[in-house]
Amino acid sequence: MSATRPQPRPGVLAIDAYVPGKSTAPGVEKVFKLSSNETPLGPSPKAVAAFKAAAAELERYPDGASTALRAAIAARYGLNAARIVCGAGSDELLSLLAHAYLGPGDEAIFTEHGFLLYRIITLANGATPIVAPEKDLRTDIDRVLARVSERTKVVFLANPNNPTGTYVSFDEVRALRAELPAHVLLVLDAAYAEYARRNDYEAGIELVATTPNTVMTRTFSKIHGLAGLRLGWAYCPEAVADVLNRIRGPFNVSTPALLAGVAAIEDAAHEEASARHNEQWQPWLAAEIEKLGLEVTPSAANFLLVHFAKDGHRGAGAADSFLKSRTIIVRRVDAYGLPDALRMTVGTEADNRAVVAALAQFLGKAAA
Ligand SMILES: Cc1ncc(COP(=O)(O)O)c(C=O)c1O
Repeated sequence: MSATRPQPRPGVLAIDAYVPGKSTAPGVEKVFKLSSNETPLGPSPKAVAAFKAAAAELERYPDGASTALRAAIAARYGLNAARIVCGAGSDELLSLLAHAYLGPGDEAIFTEHGFLLYRIITLANGATPIVAPEKDLRTDIDRVLARVSERTKVVFLANPNNPTGTYVSFDEVRALRAELPAHVLLVLDAAYAEYARRNDYEAGIELVATTPNTVMTRTFSKIHGLAGLRLGWAYCPEAVADVLNRIRGPFNVSTPALLAGVAAIEDAAHEEASARHNEQWQPWLAAEIEKLGLEVTPSAANFLLVHFAKDGHRGAGAADSFLKSRTIIVRRVDAYGLPDALRMTVGTEADNRAVVAALAQFLGKAAA
């Protein structure tokens, strides 16, 4: 029997659409928005100036090859510009990778509390999501490897992961790569790499440089503060860059994003200030929240996963409502299988103090 209306490919209607972090509270003009892991320092003033200057040539198409931006990224990190592909957010690059390498009958592996987009882009391409359980909210390499089959085509690994904030060491990532079959593409999503200042952490550049089957994705949305412009990049083996360049939109990155991106990546001082801010306030926030008796998952990123009691009264839902009543917006993470936790971005000093004071009130305790 023929369908009475157009039908999407199998898998698409199994997708729960991604729900972004909220940015408003009812009846309130100014909120403390700590729901999307944006930087409290904003973008580099030089990036803002470059964005404004782009207004002078909006009638022109952008450089479809993102030449200047790839050169700036290559210079900053010592990379081969020919192996960099830019996109409208790392979201776009992850989607393109799924589109190119996954189809019906294929499997993609990601972890239990891994970034939600992986499930969406796997199903969108008719492939099957395979979920590897985590251990203590952290990727367990052995459990990922145990789920590899003939059908596995891609492994997505956010490192550090959103929403847990946990990371896996370079040794573990290297071991994973070494054990994965050669035909499996390992996608290292390093959206929070700039915050992960740990001796044993490596975003993925070295593995991309030394293996033919590993890709690293990066974003300008987090530490560079350009989330509104949609800008990301991937560092790829030559053959993967070639594939992405064949299927991406010919002008997938806008001129304002390209110009602001160059200014942002060249402003190492601003990036350093943002990283330092996080280094100062993330441990402070974690310690103050722990003093209130809540458990906080150790984070290598610019946000914290905070765990609440399972009972409704003091639970994550009640905490979320209470914080909202104080104009503080954080992120529910039920969709990540974490109904008793909330994810909170490290904000300005005022944001962070407001969160701690509100949580103390919620729990009926005096803030320290
Ligand atoms: C782990 C992870 N990867 C990728 C992204 C997508 O970032 P964007 O598309 O803004 O570059 C996010 C955004 O929240 C993220 O948390």
